[in-house]
Amino acid sequence: MCGIVGYIGTQDTKEILLKGLEKLEYRGYDSAGIAVMNEMGVHVFKEKGRIADLRAIVDNDVTASVGIGHTRWATHGVPSKVNAHPHQSTSGRFTLVHNGVIENYAILKREYLQDVNLVSETDTEVVVQIIEKFAQEGSHIEEALRRTLAILKGSYAIALVDNEDPETIYVGKNKSPLLVGVGDDFNVVASDAMAMIQVTDQFVELMDKEMVIVRKEAVTLKKLNGEIVERAPYTAEIDASDIEKGTYPHYMLKEIDEQPLVIRKLIQKYQDETGILTIDTDIIQATQQADRIYIVAAGTSYHAGLVGSQMIEKLAKVPVEVHVASEFNYNMPILSEKPLFIFISQSGETADSRAVLVQVKDLGHPALTITNVQGSTLSREADYTLLLHAGPEIAVASTKAYTAQLGVLAIFASVLAEAKGHTVEFDLVQDLGIVANAMEILCDEKEELENLARKFLSTTRNCFFIGRTMDYYVGLEGALKLKEISYIQAEGFAGGELKHGTIALIENGTPVIAISTQEQVDLSIRGNVKEVVARGANPCIISMKGLETEEDSFVIPAVNELLSPLVSVIPLQLISYYAALHRDCDVDKPRNLAKSVTVE
Ligand code: AGP
Repeated sequence: MCGIVGYIGTQDTKEILLKGLEKLEYRGYDSAGIAVMNEMGVHVFKEKGRIADLRAIVDNDVTASVGIGHTRWATHGVPSKVNAHPHQSTSGRFTLVHNGVIENYAILKREYLQDVNLVSETDTEVVVQIIEKFAQEGSHIEEALRRTLAILKGSYAIALVDNEDPETIYVGKNKSPLLVGVGDDFNVVASDAMAMIQVTDQFVELMDKEMVIVRKEAVTLKKLNGEIVERAPYTAEIDASDIEKGTYPHYMLKEIDEQPLVIRKLIQKYQDETGILTIDTDIIQATQQADRIYIVAAGTSYHAGLVGSQMIEKLAKVPVEVHVASEFNYNMPILSEKPLFIFISQSGETADSRAVLVQVKDLGHPALTITNVQGSTLSREADYTLLLHAGPEIAVASTKAYTAQLGVLAIFASVLAEAKGHTVEFDLVQDLGIVANAMEILCDEKEELENLARKFLSTTRNCFFIGRTMDYYVGLEGALKLKEISYIQAEGFAGGELKHGTIALIENGTPVIAISTQEQVDLSIRGNVKEVVARGANPCIISMKGLETEEDSFVIPAVNELLSPLVSVIPLQLISYYAALHRDCDVDKPRNLAKSVTVE
């Protein structure tokens, strides 16, 4: 979702901001803007569309050493130049970018801004106008910002410049992510480290309700009551080359191809010096004390949670419930006596999951976050973290993070099982190795999978994915992948459930992708395929070696059934990728979507 950058130093600010915004493009946005400040005042450039459109209107003759920038994912008001950030106060003195949602903006507008003519439809403009109002009443800028932040309800990450104080960027944060990067003779502001990794790898995390005064030579953190906070920077371990596409046409394809490597890296990262898979003993002890595990997540991470629940229940024999974060937040079930919560989130910033984590911590329950982003909000605020080690995932459609989540969940389940005295009947290191090899084989079968995408999906308006047990969960993920990047209406169903209503949608030629990797339900899912075929469906059966029949469209290599989702998802990812390509869709940045969903 929205992204923020800021720079104060000695170099060409425009270019640093624009490059930073390009690095944030993956988060999803519909308009962008920058404001740079020099002795002539503040110069604002903003445009609807892509950063390339913004670049086209930036005046190259304007030079400056201070500036802020923003990519906007519309919440209040349509995507337009007027609604794009930065927003300015009426006098032009204050210029501000904002990420998040100000829930009480309408009330604030009525209370403080009756006499102010707002030019945009955004909640953000209300913030910058109130800062101006407080400044006009005599508050120094820092005080005006502090007073404003104190009355905001909702989430915000804010960067503000004042043309009467051209040596400073003022920053505020609550719930929405924001970092301050530190360098020699310059400092930066960024929604995530990737945006500024080209200039520094030293970042200071900001906590909620903190503000920062960022100058070229110093960064001062304060609480909203003015108390100074000391916090050392951490080193962001991102290799700048990890966030380049290289020779790939799309990040999504690169990230699909990286999956075998990610699984091999995971094995290494979670092995001890003797080669045994291991998980931090504190985590295992906390889990052993729990009578039930609650997995909370959204989207693809929720689908990983469904598979993970089976792994944990089957291996460690602990009951697991899996919940969609946005529902759990408002509709918490009666909890067991000793629950342990697992938050699964690629970004570690999903606002829906974070809202649940806050409630869970208030209730005093232990929480573990499984995430790809070290230092992310969900990681910082949970008691424990397990990292995915998948490297930055840039494409909006999650691929390698999903399989890494499954890998970590499998390792967690098997270590927990051993700790509880349950024998794990297979060698997980070896079986994950077999998974990585199978993934590699599948990544080499792109041509065949592209043909399947053409055969089944080139003209269809909808598509169903069916499976049973583990294959049902993978079907849900396959359907999500297909709809988010190709815009084909796709639904995943438990094979047996279709006949309870949805089978009414099957017409002549409707594609039904059926997955069969589980011996126990192979015949049942094939029976479900017959039911839809009898009603005209065009079936595409993807089965696992050993269960295949002549009617199958694609066969995946044999792996441990419990780990099959790590492998069976790959043809679904690639079929979705090619279906989107055939329809000329923007694969990496699908419409309306954001990579990091930082509003509830
Ligand atoms: C996945 O392809 C989606 N882009 C989306 O469903 C995503 O998984 C969801 O928003 C949760 O994100 P998180 O894993 O960063 O919490």
